[in-house]
Amino acid sequence: MESDKKTELKPHFSKKFLWGASVSTHQVEGGNHNQWSIWELETAVSRAKQAKEMYGHLPMWSEISQQAQTPENYVSGNAVEHYTRYKTDFALAKTLHLTAMRSGIEWSRIEPQEGEFDESALQHYREYFTEMKRQGITPVVTLWHWTFPQWFAEKGGFKYRRNITFFKRYVEYVSKNIGVDFPYIITINEPTVYAAISYHEKRWPPEEHSKLVSLRVAFNLARAHNRVYGVIKKYQPKSLVGIAHNCAYFYPGDNSRISRLVARVGHWFSNEMIIRRVNKKQDFMGLNFYFVNRVLGTKIHNPGDRRNDLGWDMQPEKLRDLLVQLYEKFQKPIMITETGVADMHDQYRKWWIEESIRSMYVAKGRGVKLLGYIHWSLLDNFEWAEGFWPRFGLIAVDRTTQHRTIRASARWYGRVIQRLTATR
Ligand code: BGC
Repeated sequence: MESDKKTELKPHFSKKFLWGASVSTHQVEGGNHNQWSIWELETAVSRAKQAKEMYGHLPMWSEISQQAQTPENYVSGNAVEHYTRYKTDFALAKTLHLTAMRSGIEWSRIEPQEGEFDESALQHYREYFTEMKRQGITPVVTLWHWTFPQWFAEKGGFKYRRNITFFKRYVEYVSKNIGVDFPYIITINEPTVYAAISYHEKRWPPEEHSKLVSLRVAFNLARAHNRVYGVIKKYQPKSLVGIAHNCAYFYPGDNSRISRLVARVGHWFSNEMIIRRVNKKQDFMGLNFYFVNRVLGTKIHNPGDRRNDLGWDMQPEKLRDLLVQLYEKFQKPIMITETGVADMHDQYRKWWIEESIRSMYVAKGRGVKLLGYIHWSLLDNFEWAEGFWPRFGLIAVDRTTQHRTIRASARWYGRVIQRLTATR
């Protein structure tokens, strides 16, 4: 597709369009006890030792080396204390004129022991989302973002189809009892990413290494979504329900038949395979977008002209092509439920958001129905295996003082939202 650099940031978005930012429970709350926090404690020391090998090639290495070689970096601990600071965090989101926020419910808090539900934890989330709404922010709720109670891990987690029933019971308890109406619910975050990294690449708990098992986990997560869709609709009939799927834009880097074929297969496998399995039971598609993959022959070889702090190749403008492809294929409205950059010096974030908004304009012009743009992330947070050094936040967090500082790109994003929402 030709580039459309000149598209101005005009107010083409409807009144209902959501402008937001995202967080996930384990990455921001602090004080969680789940299969992931246990793994953090078991592996922090060895991961700090391996840091140079893992991250030494990154351009930011000299700036992150100290933190990355410290075991505490790999322990979520008190994270950014969003569990207790949420009211002021919402107020900060409001100063940026955000109209929506994607956040979640932590299963390990709700059901710390098998079959024993903690009413006080549910009460916390009741208050949390009520407060969010009171401050004029529309919630987009995630029910599962990779962490679960240890007892569920001991049963084998989503490796076994029979375990889906436990997830269903948790979802039923929350949907039935929370007493807050949610306009948008995301059941599962990024099934394929979790399945691949935890069960094939051995980089996340439970560090298994099997392509077959990883595929099985991804399919079980799709099944889990399908199983809870009706349950949610029973108690939250007005909710729009979907999954958040991580999609990469694949394109051939040359004109050879093999590059074109491999790009098509990569797109199918990475972007379509799971959505085909859940699409009948989703009202919208949540899209998480961070990557493009340039295919040369049978290999991915990205140009790498612009890389973020994690070394990821940045091509935000490709979002529009992906949006068009996915909408044409699945015909479901799309919400961008995550997109962003690890960018400690805040050099690329504004550009990334600007290009994303342009991409959305172009995609809309091509008939794509869009529900919202939810940037990752509202706050600097715990970036899974990498720990705390990658900085994705619109708002910087100093973990020693827990002080929040709004980044310049976020102020700019806030002004754009204000303009786009004022004139519509
Ligand atoms: C995940 C987030 C993560 C972000 C940046 C997404 O795949 O859903 O939890 O922090 O990417 O890596």
